Amino acid sequence: MAQPPNPAPSAPTQALPGVDRIVAIGSGKGGVGKTTVAVNLAVALAELGYVVGLLDADVYGPNVPLMMGRSEMPSVQGGNLIQPLRQHGVRFMSMGLLNPGDKPVIWRGPMLHSAMQQFLRQVEWGSLDYLLIDLPPGTGDISLSLAQSVPLTGAIVVTTPSDVSLQDGRKALNMFQQLHVTVLGVVENMSGFTCPHCHRDVDIFSHGGGERTAEKFGVPFLGALPLLPEVRQGGDSGRPVAAAGQDAPAARPFFEVAKRVAATASAQDGDGEVVHVRA
Ligand SMILES: Nc1ncnc2c1ncn2[C@@H]1O[C@H](COP(=O)(O)OP(=O)(O)O)[C@@H](O)[C@H]1O
Ligand SMILES: [Mg+2]
Ligand SMILES: [Zn+2]
Repeated sequence: MAQPPNPAPSAPTQALPGVDRIVAIGSGKGGVGKTTVAVNLAVALAELGYVVGLLDADVYGPNVPLMMGRSEMPSVQGGNLIQPLRQHGVRFMSMGLLNPGDKPVIWRGPMLHSAMQQFLRQVEWGSLDYLLIDLPPGTGDISLSLAQSVPLTGAIVVTTPSDVSLQDGRKALNMFQQLHVTVLGVVENMSGFTCPHCHRDVDIFSHGGGERTAEKFGVPFLGALPLLPEVRQGGDSGRPVAAAGQDAPAARPFFEVAKRVAATASAQDGDGEVVHVRA
């Protein structure tokens, strides 16, 4: 008998041993700053004292190694577990480490699913407070595969304040709700810009739409991150602004979002739905 076109997602039961909270970072669109948010949140949470892993699940455009500033081939030790790289206090893994250079990954759904399984279960993550997952843009196979593979604490949706980004952001919010993934909140990135020359505020991508969208969906608003040259430079140079610590002006908004994520995620722990037990 043929499979129904949209099989109802079954709730995954097999947690990752030792990993307390798994948080996915998604968006409807590319280029809105998902990876920038994922990397800086990971580094900020690590700076705040949490043990953090970061899985780059964007196999099509794996930018985490560049933004973290490390890209050597990971080693395989004891048994056949892949060792994540460590940088800026964060353990991370990316397809970009296994497939370096500019060769594209051209895969069908089942291969993506098994790659996700390996990244989750054959990487020696160790004990983690947080595993952040940088999703590819959109509402495709990888998000579905992830939601079916491990119990997620929740997802964060990143959007810019432009109507175009918000339109796709609403799709991502609907996707997580359909997959029964709790939305921890919305982050508005590239929200406003202060001209370094005349110090006037310029709303390049507008502002406020992320908060209104969060309200409309009844999910928390986790904060606004301004458009800052230092953020782009930090990404391109492999030194995310959050690595400068929470007193650095460019890093401050990321730490505010990180603290809200931690507060929202720990509120999630209390509701009894998903309980992660440390190995
Ligand atoms: N708040 C920001 N200020 C300045 N540049 C940013 C900001 N957020 C993202 N960028 C830059 O925008 C580009 C796209 O961001 P990226 O994180 O790769 O987006 P995505 O992962 O959603 O495709 C990168 O060059 C990044 O450095
Ligand atoms: Mg990205
Ligand atoms: Zn100006």
